[in-house]
Amino acid sequence: MAEQKATNIKWHHGKITKEDRVKLLNQKGVTIWLTGLSGSGKSTIAVELEHVLIENKHHAYILDGDNIRHGLNKNLGFSPEDRTENIRRIGEVAKLFTDANIITITAFISPYRKDRDAVRKLLNDGKFIEVYVKCSVEVCEERDTKGLYKKARSGEVKDFTGISAPYEEPHNPELTIDSSKLSAEESTRAILNYLVEKKYVMFDY
Ligand code: ADX
Repeated sequence: MAEQKATNIKWHHGKITKEDRVKLLNQKGVTIWLTGLSGSGKSTIAVELEHVLIENKHHAYILDGDNIRHGLNKNLGFSPEDRTENIRRIGEVAKLFTDANIITITAFISPYRKDRDAVRKLLNDGKFIEVYVKCSVEVCEERDTKGLYKKARSGEVKDFTGISAPYEEPHNPELTIDSSKLSAEESTRAILNYLVEKKYVMFDY
């Protein structure tokens, strides 16, 4: 866990309440945490979900592994420690977005259960929806959209999740999506149904 280094700091509160933000955007901010192997379909589902939400006048935003590693987390690799720090920072960013009342969609392998659980703890009750995008290594490897499984097998890419690094399945995710059976549209619909049922968003579709 990252230690607190700064001293003499104080939390400042604004004038805007959570209810003010809910009224403004007609939605309840939440983090939809997609977890699963590389190539399982997390980013595709995230893109589809963001699109449908915004088409229906809801404010959504994606935080994606490959993208965040170009900026905020460009100094992190794929060792267990770096992955933990990757997820810790993203968890903090997701918390800020969620506090801003945005439907925050994250797409990170996030292979370690303890790291995902730490983010769950960081966000308030009901603000963290863990979605396990379930897909076997065999299917992901067959798809190999980025050619990384091939490189992992040859040893060119080290510590590759599912091949030479672990993936710990969630024990109690709010949702499990079998992306080897469901299309991106069907997967998106399953998440939307959950959001509507739990009243995070309100719309007819
Ligand atoms: S995480 O494990 O720390 O959550 P993250 O989701 O940010 O990973 O990044 C994963 C993406 O980085 C993969 O989709 C893939 O494109 C790329 N990548 C490059 N090297 C590796 C590796 N060794 N293991 C997993 N993904 C890798």
